[in-house]
Amino acid sequence: MYKVAIFSSKKYDQQFLDQFNQNNALALHYFESRLTYQTAELAQGYDAICVFVNDVIDQQVLKQLDRFGVRVIALRCAGFNNLDLKAAKSLDIKICRVPEYSPEAVAEHTIGLLLTLSRKFHKAYLRVRENNFALDGLMGFNLHGKTVGVIGCGKIGQATIKILLGFGCTVICHDPAPSAEAKALEIEFVDQDDIFSRADIITLHCPLTPNTRHIINRSSIAQMKSGVVIINTSRGGLIDSEAIIKGLKTRHIGFLGMDVYELESELFFEDLSADIIQDDVFTRLLTFPNVLITGHQGFFTEEALITIARTTLDNIQLLLDGQPCDNELVY
Ligand code: NAI
Repeated sequence: MYKVAIFSSKKYDQQFLDQFNQNNALALHYFESRLTYQTAELAQGYDAICVFVNDVIDQQVLKQLDRFGVRVIALRCAGFNNLDLKAAKSLDIKICRVPEYSPEAVAEHTIGLLLTLSRKFHKAYLRVRENNFALDGLMGFNLHGKTVGVIGCGKIGQATIKILLGFGCTVICHDPAPSAEAKALEIEFVDQDDIFSRADIITLHCPLTPNTRHIINRSSIAQMKSGVVIINTSRGGLIDSEAIIKGLKTRHIGFLGMDVYELESELFFEDLSADIIQDDVFTRLLTFPNVLITGHQGFFTEEALITIARTTLDNIQLLLDGQPCDNELVY
């Protein structure tokens, strides 16, 4: 029986992976530790490892895994910016991911952040619990009639666009390689600069690559409308956090909703409520009344976790058996 080490595992990972590990086909061992150079030793004796968004799978770690005889790395997520695909290929380690588990889960979370910022649900919830029914300070704005700029029109971008069109928004989109499905939507494809200058609301749905790193920076912010709303449920590295703080301080940025953060690997997925957070940029972001942050929970629905567990287990079994796997990442 193949042995698989699951890194960065939480109770819910174990619950869903065990549930769909039919007849215990794979021997699954759970480690709470994040995979890093320091923890890679835990992978000794395993045929495959399974990792998540903040595990580090760089060249150094891959070389260690290769020495330990690990043949397959299964990402239980869609993005793979944390992995050196070229190095994996050179070591002949097979990589797979879950390319689509529920684009709607992330799209709905995106809209949730937007609606919370536009209608101040987070403030209203607390106020009403204290029998304070005054409306001062709760005035919002309509989404209907607004121009929304979507960067990245893949599966999540498209699911988000469909909801936005239902709200009566005008959607403009930038994507260097839109699919036929994307082109069929009632939207206008424009240059990246047009998104920055025309949109009232900008939402990010492109992957994090060297080209897209800090796509939201000082100069792109300068091109944006005053009061612009920015939503990021993709990857934290798309936003230059220092630049966004400057934009918030001058009120050029009206609202910011983020489910991801550049240096989230030191913070997210853990209960740090009794700790002193050392990241001063993150704590500054938390102080703004017009910033809403969630801790990378866009994917976190029951439907998504079921698909992630099923697909991940199938991917591992196929690759270890030497079978073709549609979800293998090839360089
Ligand atoms: P996808 O691969 O279906 O779509 C990505 C799209 O971005 C493609 O159409 C591609 O052509 C486009 N793109 C690439 N470079 C671009 C650029 N420079 N400017 C504009 N568009 C560009 O990916 P999917 O499934 O829609 O996911 C998007 C991202 O969402 C993932 O890369 C991941 O980082 C993030 N994500 C976040 C989750 C969360 O829990 N918050 C969960 C799942 C994914």
